[in-house]
Amino acid sequence: SAESAASATEPSAHDPIGHLSSTMLEGHVAFITGGGSGINLGIARAFARCGAAVALCGRTEERLAGAAEELRGMGAQVAYKAADVRDPEALQASVDHAVSELGDISITVAGAAGNFFAKAEEMSSNAFRTVVDIDLMGAYHAAKATFPSLQKTRGSILFISASQAFKATKYQAHVGAAKAGIEMLMQDLAVEWGEHGIRSNSLVPGPVAGTEGMTRLAGPTGDDMWKRAVPLGRYAETEEVGAMAAVLAGPLGAYVTGSQYTVDGGLGLVGSGH
Ligand code: HXC
Repeated sequence: SAESAASATEPSAHDPIGHLSSTMLEGHVAFITGGGSGINLGIARAFARCGAAVALCGRTEERLAGAAEELRGMGAQVAYKAADVRDPEALQASVDHAVSELGDISITVAGAAGNFFAKAEEMSSNAFRTVVDIDLMGAYHAAKATFPSLQKTRGSILFISASQAFKATKYQAHVGAAKAGIEMLMQDLAVEWGEHGIRSNSLVPGPVAGTEGMTRLAGPTGDDMWKRAVPLGRYAETEEVGAMAAVLAGPLGAYVTGSQYTVDGGLGLVGSGH
């Protein structure tokens, strides 16, 4: 698999989440869209490590079940109910299930995303719309469905963004449009929901080893040229993104809202390598 290919060639930097406090997120309930795999599962692991209960939402029931088993193995309380974030009613049902199993949500991670390379003039209208629907509309649906909980818990939302939101990228017009929309949604909610004590931030990951996004953009073994372009000279581990997510979304980030936090090994300073 891409995961084993990546880990065979990539030394693990260290134990990125081992340094986190095991009580930092005690009493917190996190709802994570796209939480069954990739970066969002890394975030779920970090939250579990910090003592949070974790609710996973994704399209594939079996994938969620596997992730839930792993997180329970870490000692976390876990709930999951499959939903496509493009379907607001299904997403609401997944949120309702999470609340009934684990209690009110205090951290929402809007992480579900779709991506493929396509020329702007060649992709269908439906192709463009599909990515906007998953990334931007899905993020809005997740924020809205968890708002009543977040209002009660004075919680926070973390949007998973991408460099494409800020930097024009060939064959990523659909993704850039969707992620740029997410960045503004993040800021609008920070302003609008600040009075409820709800914080809203975005996290901008760079290339992360063993994720579907990387497989799609750099090929299953990763693109060495791209890797060399990263100032730190390697791709991230999902848990390295997760560790920063735990800091931003949890109590350590109590005065951080309307902000974007980049976790990209410095890649944004030197270009994407393409
Ligand atoms: C052109 C494409 C295409 C491609 C799909 N389409 N793939 N067009 N090039 N490679 C078109 C289809 O033809 C169709 O249009 C429309 O998009 C919808 O496709 P479906 O397959 O019906 O959609 P669906 O089954 O809902 O799948 C959604 C998906 C898929 C986005 C297309 O790739 C997916 O499920 N992805 C989720 C996983 C993922 O991508 N993770 C990576 C996220 S990484 P027509 O007109 O034919 O109906 C990320 C950050 C990247 O977001 C940053 C990394 C640095």
